[in-house]
Amino acid sequence: MANNLLKGKKGIIFGALDENSIAWKVAERAKEEGAVFVLTNAPVALRKGDIFRLAEKTGSEVISADVTQVDDLENLFNESMKLLGGKIDFILHSVGMSPNVRKGLHYTELDYNYMMKTLDVSAISLHKVLQTALNLDAINEWGSVVALSYIAAQRTFSSYSDMAQAKAMLESIARSFGYHYGKRKKVRVNTVSQSPTMTTAGQGVGGFNAFYTYANCMSPLGNATSAQCADYCITLFSDLTKMVTMQNLYHDGGYSTMGISDKLIEDCFVCQGDCHDKNDND
Ligand SMILES: NC(=O)c1ccc[n+]([C@@H]2O[C@H](COP(=O)([O-])OP(=O)(O)OC[C@H]3O[C@@H](n4cnc5c(N)ncnc54)[C@H](O)[C@@H]3O)[C@@H](O)[C@H]2O)c1
Repeated sequence: MANNLLKGKKGIIFGALDENSIAWKVAERAKEEGAVFVLTNAPVALRKGDIFRLAEKTGSEVISADVTQVDDLENLFNESMKLLGGKIDFILHSVGMSPNVRKGLHYTELDYNYMMKTLDVSAISLHKVLQTALNLDAINEWGSVVALSYIAAQRTFSSYSDMAQAKAMLESIARSFGYHYGKRKKVRVNTVSQSPTMTTAGQGVGGFNAFYTYANCMSPLGNATSAQCADYCITLFSDLTKMVTMQNLYHDGGYSTMGISDKLIEDCFVCQGDCHDKNDND
């Protein structure tokens, strides 16, 4: 159901790789709500090609940008403002990647060059986006920037690896930059901490199916889907949430506040408490 919540608003959406991507769903919903926007992704993702289908569907242009490269970001903002005919009202940062996760390295045997790449792509990139936008004065007053996070920023998920540090840093950058951008330009910056979601990045994490099932059993509302995440992001881009900034907002069906659920007790609790004796390693 469309309510014209983003009528007249201009945006930049990072991270639509394929139709499972959270950013893909956000782009579809933003279009339904009346926004115009530019889609962006890394050159390698553009070569995959799916993003151009989304561009056609949403009447958007695609601009290539590696989110770790400030030159690319400057070009992205300048070109977007030209194409859209003015400053930006909303940005979705839906970007994450860990070479350590990709290569399957154990958390106690991380490659530190890879770890720096994880932090740069998945967290520092948010700072780069915000700093570039501020320097170019590219975001309108009351504009809204949303980045996607995961509860591994607060709690240990054994196979989430260095992405946990990246998410903790991402949320911290949203708070710190949110202060400065709010003071100077009334721009708000938030992170949305989303349920496990079946996407390329999500399924790249070891044991993802267990993450997904466990969270689904634990949450009173079940896991939030990517389409529901898109709905939530739209509210945060809209003028209905103008005074929300510097927050990490859980969008997880209640998971983050749970200890144990009836569902887990009844259906999923199979080890009878002796799994530690059987599994010495992890
Ligand atoms: N899937 C989940 O379970 C889940 C849960 C919570 C949060 N998130 C977060 O949601 C965000 C989107 O992920 P997704 O699940 O939609 O997966 P996805 O794989 O569809 O999206 C990740 C995107 O990051 C892009 N990217 C990687 N390196 C880049 C670079 N250098 N420059 C520009 N873009 C780059 C990829 O091309 C891809 O489009 C990520 O931040 C992810 O950590 C995902």
